Amino acid sequence: MDLSQKIRNIPDFPKEGILFKDITPLLRDKEALKEAIVKMADMFREHEIDYVVGIEARGFLVGTPLAIELDKGFIPIRKPGKLPDEVLNVSYQLEYGKNEIEIHKDAINKGDKILLVDDLLATGGTTLAATQMIESLGGEVVGCAFLLELDELSGREVLKNYKVKSLLIS
Ligand code: PRP
Repeated sequence: MDLSQKIRNIPDFPKEGILFKDITPLLRDKEALKEAIVKMADMFREHEIDYVVGIEARGFLVGTPLAIELDKGFIPIRKPGKLPDEVLNVSYQLEYGKNEIEIHKDAINKGDKILLVDDLLATGGTTLAATQMIESLGGEVVGCAFLLELDELSGREVLKNYKVKSLLIS
């Protein structure tokens, strides 16, 4: 199946001038969803992985089924104030303003091998912040898996120290 046909372009969302990549048609189609998750798993099946880490919110939609497909547990990185126990917080710069993400401090043990997952690689800022959090807890990022990569934003360059694999490139 041509999975790229299942991603819809929505102009001027969430702001004017932004072309939003909407993955909901892919999620809604059971064949497309299954194929996307199996193919994302295939990208990292040969790697030694202890946990899959996914980034809220759309990173959960692909990260949790990917963890099941790879027979691993799932660890969430969340937006601030959502995780109930002690957290590590990282803030990072966006084009305009800043963002914060959090992870439970006890979610990762020293030496854990982590596959980091999100739906979209754009500027790479979110994923880079996530790698810093994982590493400061002693984890090792063995790879970063994305459903879709926006080529023109060069997130791959920002993540040049990591093994980055995307199922679709646009
Ligand atoms: C989107 C996307 C990634 C991030 C990619 O999340 O799901 O997490 O932006 O952008 P970057 O590579 O420029 O950092 P968003 O903040 O829209 O949140 P959501 O998943 O909760 O919709």
